[in-house]
Amino acid sequence: MVGVDVFYNPYDPVVNDDPYPVYARLRREAPIYHNTELGFWALSRHADVAAALTDSALLSSDHGPVLDAGAFGPQARTFLSFVAMDPPEHTRMRATISRGFTPRRVAALEPMIRQIARGYVEEAVERGTFDFARDIAAKLPLDVISELVGVPPSERAGVRRRMAPMLGADPGGQIAEEGIKSVISLADYYRQIITERRAAPRDDLVSVLVADEELTDEDIVAFLFLLIGAGAETTTHLLGAAWFWAWRNPDQRAAAFGGAIPRWVEESLRYDTPAQGVARRLTRATEWHGTRVPADAKMWLLIGSANRDEGVFPDPDAYDLERDTGRAISFGAGRHFCLGGPLARLEARVTLEELTKAVAPGYDIDAAGITRTTHGNIRGMTRLPTTVKP
Ligand code: HEM
Repeated sequence: MVGVDVFYNPYDPVVNDDPYPVYARLRREAPIYHNTELGFWALSRHADVAAALTDSALLSSDHGPVLDAGAFGPQARTFLSFVAMDPPEHTRMRATISRGFTPRRVAALEPMIRQIARGYVEEAVERGTFDFARDIAAKLPLDVISELVGVPPSERAGVRRRMAPMLGADPGGQIAEEGIKSVISLADYYRQIITERRAAPRDDLVSVLVADEELTDEDIVAFLFLLIGAGAETTTHLLGAAWFWAWRNPDQRAAAFGGAIPRWVEESLRYDTPAQGVARRLTRATEWHGTRVPADAKMWLLIGSANRDEGVFPDPDAYDLERDTGRAISFGAGRHFCLGGPLARLEARVTLEELTKAVAPGYDIDAAGITRTTHGNIRGMTRLPTTVKP
């Protein structure tokens, strides 16, 4: 293997701050990379990552997509649901769940999303100075999931409070006991909703799930937690990336504010994708670029790097709303392809529409005040101090 001097540790603060230079070196010098200390093998080229995502016989999801799933301990199954399953179990459960995510159901959510977005945007913009991450981006996706699940609006803040210890938690460390308690209380609340829907079904997601007699209450609770893990933080960080990179690139911001909002969403998904990587277990020894990787190896598929592959995206480090993003794999590929892509895009479009209307004269970001997530899978900003221009 060439370039064995490349060192890549996703938890290194310098890498965490800006992983793209090291991804470029991996693609060039070590397209199959072994981190012996952390015990994973990384693929970083677009062709390799895309092929690996679609070969679920070679790359099993049975340990889940989280790089350090061990940190969840015995709770892993509670949070990962069918994203940590292989066929035929996965195929069955996904078929039921897909019925809850039809285009009709997603499109019907738009007025509710707009109402939530407008509320948070108006409240923040009125203050003039606000934290985009906490005051808007972290709240809206969780509220939308609450709405999907059938949590009444008066309980939305309670769900956010109970999930707070888990979201942005660092799987490199242990989740504090208090966090687990708070999550258990949310599980109890979800069980109540499931019981209510079993007694009186409605036209909503939980009612679709209870109609499948093979799913137990615990299967459904695990899925609802997966929805939060997969659908809330990711969408939060998509919003943050759009807000930050448009600010950093004034010419692109002008295009975004001029109405190119769908392009703004797509390029932000490619450029600084929230799901940087997904983990897999290799089911049999396989060779990549002349290096043999043993069976059972932990594989780390770097979506964040694939989206910056120069062979697919010319001038990949330029944030450019005009580019063709059709081959970006921000929502994965294959059997586990994200079920919430259309919903995430809808949430982002609606929120950015409301924002561009409300801060028409523009905004500034205090870059020194930005803080980031510190875990390997999900990349994004946890504080994003913003001031609206008068
Ligand atoms: C799966 C990314 C938003 C629900 C995935 C996967 C990726 C991804 C990469 C594949 C995981 C794997 O292969 O192991 C994203 C990004 C989002 C987003 C970048 C936002 C920008 C959402 C939303 C929801 C959602 C809003 C639902 C409310 C799911 C579910 C799966 C999944 C249920 C598991 C699918 C399966 O295992 O078959 N997502 N996601 N995601 N996502 Fe998303």
